[in-house]
Amino acid sequence: MRKALVVGNWKMNGTGSSIDLLMQGLIAQLASCSSGIVVCPPNVYLDQVRGHIEQTTISMGGQNIDWHDNGAFTGEVSAEMLADLGCDFVLVGHSERRTLFGETSEDVAMKCEASLSKGIIPILCVGETQAQRQNGETQDVITSQLVPVFDKLDSDAMAKVVIAYEPVWAIGTGRTASPQQADDVHAFIRQTLAEKDLNTANNIQILYGGSVNASNAVELFGMQNIDGALVGGASLDAASFLAICQAAVLV
Ligand code: PGA
Repeated sequence: MRKALVVGNWKMNGTGSSIDLLMQGLIAQLASCSSGIVVCPPNVYLDQVRGHIEQTTISMGGQNIDWHDNGAFTGEVSAEMLADLGCDFVLVGHSERRTLFGETSEDVAMKCEASLSKGIIPILCVGETQAQRQNGETQDVITSQLVPVFDKLDSDAMAKVVIAYEPVWAIGTGRTASPQQADDVHAFIRQTLAEKDLNTANNIQILYGGSVNASNAVELFGMQNIDGALVGGASLDAASFLAICQAAVLV
């Protein structure tokens, strides 16, 4: 039985004081949520958030890592550094990283490997653009994003990964994939994984991301292959994020 997981990706948003308020709001209502909850603040606020989540069930994640262990990589942060600050998760291959910062699927695979080597669970983001969907290329794009990761990780390592399907056209647009559209891609991902390892395919958590909000979450979580959500905009508001977490009950 897979456990529901809701991850908040704050992106480059927040200030010290807004983050204190957000965390206080979340923690006050935490008892009403049964899913796993992860928040991914900007790196500079990780230590502040760590102070809030001590003694709670909330986990913390980074939004990106460099795959090198250390060295002359100005501005970058390693998996070990995130682990030092109390992160259990890290987003890898978010579409904004792929599009705006030129990350390739090979880069993403190295980030998965680096994070696992330091005991951090990578949340591997995959998804197609609007044009790719219209051209019927969705499955090919997802496959091309997954294969370099499969090539790097053995079955034991792959079993630790969380996957997030985020159609690029649904991120920050208010246009969610329909529950059926999302479930179809999740089922395809599971089937692709099954060719490698059936057990992993059945147990891996596959989150949906792209304009998830309090109103569409229940329907999305009702789908067989959707195990949770990666939430951007709605994770910046305690009430909205809590409503999504409360809806995350898998049947
Ligand atoms: P959104 O972002 O919920 O604002 O669409 C999702 C994401 O980028 O992870």
